[in-house]
Parts: sequence; C-alpha cells; structure tokens
Amino acid sequence: MQYDFNTVIDRSQNHSAKYDERIKKFGTDDVIPLWIADMDFRTAQPIIDALSRRAQEGIWGYTARPDSYFEAIRTWQKRRNSWDIDQSLMSFSLGVVQSISACVKLFTPEGGSVLIQTPVYSEFYDMTEAWNRSVLENQFVEQDGKWTVDWADFEAKLQQADLFLLCNPHNPLGIVWTPEELRRMAELCMKYHVVMFSDEIHSDLIFHGRKHTPTAALSPEIARYVITGISGTKTFNLAGLQASTVVFPNQHMKQVFDRFWMNMDIHRNNAFSLTAMEAAFTGGEEWLEQLLPYISGNFDFVVDYCEKHIPKIKTYAPDATYLMWLDCRELGMTNEELHDFMIQKAKLGLNDGCSFGRSLNGYMRLNAACPRSVLEQALRQLEAAVNGL
Ligand SMILES: Cc1ncc(COP(=O)(O)O)c(C=O)c1O
Repeated sequence: MQYDFNTVIDRSQNHSAKYDERIKKFGTDDVIPLWIADMDFRTAQPIIDALSRRAQEGIWGYTARPDSYFEAIRTWQKRRNSWDIDQSLMSFSLGVVQSISACVKLFTPEGGSVLIQTPVYSEFYDMTEAWNRSVLENQFVEQDGKWTVDWADFEAKLQQADLFLLCNPHNPLGIVWTPEELRRMAELCMKYHVVMFSDEIHSDLIFHGRKHTPTAALSPEIARYVITGISGTKTFNLAGLQASTVVFPNQHMKQVFDRFWMNMDIHRNNAFSLTAMEAAFTGGEEWLEQLLPYISGNFDFVVDYCEKHIPKIKTYAPDATYLMWLDCRELGMTNEELHDFMIQKAKLGLNDGCSFGRSLNGYMRLNAACPRSVLEQALRQLEAAVNGL
C-alpha cells in the first residue's frame, strides 16, 4: 500500500494536545504547532483496521494480555535490532516517562542523585526532581554544531550517581550512539556499580543508514546493569493510547517495579492499546519504511531552507527522532526574548532549548513530523520574522 504523508489532516476535532493545548502552552492558538512529539500523520492501515474491528465489538471490559503481545514486541526487536529479549523480564508500563519516574523512585535512595546528559528530554530533569533526587548534569560539548560527550566529566559525575538516565537514541540532538560509545558508558557504569535506564523510545526512527544499538544487547554482562524503556507509541504515532514496555536486568527489579504499579492497580493494557501495539509490531513495518524517507526529506528541506534563506539559524538533519535542533544564537536574544519572538513574530509553537539544557541560551526544538507544506509555511513565517528584526 502507498501511504500519503503530504495531505494536511485537520486535527481540530482530534482532541490533540499539540493543537488544543496551544493556549495553555503558548498563550495563543495562533501558532503552527511544532512542539510536543507526535506526528500529524495517520498511522499504518493495519493498526487502523485492527482498532476499527475492536471498536465494532462493542464490549471493552477488563483486558487480559495474551502472550502474543510481548512476543510481537520481542520479534520486532530481534528482527530489527538483533536484540534477543528474555520475555520473562518484560513488564507493561503506561509510558516510558512513567517507567523512568518509577525507576528513579524505586532504585535510588531518598535524596540520591541521577546522572543525565544535557541537553536532553526535559522529563529526565522533571522525573528526577519529582522524587526529590538531585540531577547531576553531564553537559555535551558542542563544536561546529556537533555535540559530543565530555568523558572525564561523565566519569567524575557517575561516581556520585545512583542511576544514569541515557537517551538512546538522543532527543533532542538526534544522536545515534555507536556501539563503542555505548560500551564506554556501560563499562563505566559497571565499574562504579551504577544502573542505567536506557530510554529507547525513538529507536525505530533512524536515518542516514545508521543503526540503533540497544544498550542491553551489547553483552550479557552489560545487560545486568541496564533497564530499557521501549514503545511503539513514537514509531507509530500512538501516544494517546498509553502503552510501553520495560525490560529488566533481573527478576528482582522486575518484581519491585511490578509490585509498585500493582499497588495502584495499574498493570493492564486498555482494550485499544493492546490491539494497536500488536497490530503495529506485526503489520506496521511497511508504513514505517515509507515514513522514514518522508521525514528525512523534511529534514533536508528545513536544512536547505535555513541555509538559503535564514542563515542566522543553524540546524542539521538528525540521525534519529523527528525532532530538529535549531541554533538561534546569532539572533542575539535571551531565552525569554527568543521564546516570545517565536510565538509573537514567527507565530510558531516550538519547544524552548533551555527546557532540555537549563544553562543553554539561544536554542529551540522543532518537530518535523508533519506534511512538508506545513514546514514550508512555518519556515516562510520564520524567515519573515527574522528579516523583520
Ligand atoms: C526520550 C523520550 N522518552 C519518553 C517520551 C515519552 O514517552 P511516553 O509517552 O511513553 O511516556 C518522549 C516523548 O517525547 C521522549 O522523547
């Protein structure tokens, strides 16, 4: 089947946070929303068909999870990433953020510390601080638009950490970690006996011939230190269904995690997430293989447009995610001024760079998972706003 990613879909009746929460987020709904990480595309037809059949059943009582659910996820990981997961170590979780939050609470001491590499997905800060743990920041070093790990700082901070939250691949910088880089991080974690949580939610969104390496697949020794969060919600645009998977290094940690959620009676899929995830991992690949080149084309379009028409804004095509990192430092604005400029002058709803790295100034994040014509309009508005300065 040939999928169409060009048609602009009206989401005004879609109860979409990306659209309907614009006033809450930006103070106005007069912005093109290119912020929260979901896509303006319909998902794969086999998922839509499976959900339609489920909807027609008319009974959506408490839902039991068949073995085929985790088997579909296991098979996907094995085929695409050569990761052979022990199914007995997989747990259901509503979302990867919920998993991170629970792991911070359950596997670090009161008042403990969590190491993150910044800039990074802002929930890494928030879920750490929510439980009164301290954030240790290993800041990436930027040179000519390329961001790399400060290894000496990483090792020093790791020695004070109770947990390391890794974003693999990386949001917002779009880095696909090499096996060597991952091994270096993991071996340092082993050396200092620090457990890692590897957030791999973006691991199916990989470009430019790069390959995702699941951290836990590096070696059996490393797997003993790694909790992994995976999900089909980013890959197939299903975030509103709320379902993800956690893979634990051992039964003990899995049981501690499962008991925590069981105590709140949160352990079942809802009737629709069960159906959607299984359909996604068994029938969604054809759609994904068409989506990826479309998004890659969007990246190239944005890079080219900025180079030609908005040279003060520097960006690059990320190797992973559908999120682009904009270096707006040449505009010479404070974070507050840049925030207001994007909303009021460019009429764009972007994410502030300083929410991903609190000491950063002059960056924004743009979600490129939309029809190209929407990006075209957004960039025209941005160009006009920059020219008006
Ligand atoms: C790195 C990362 N982890 C987790 C999430 C959200 O995960 P979930 O919706 O499963 O809680 C996002 C969403 O943007 C993300 O970028």
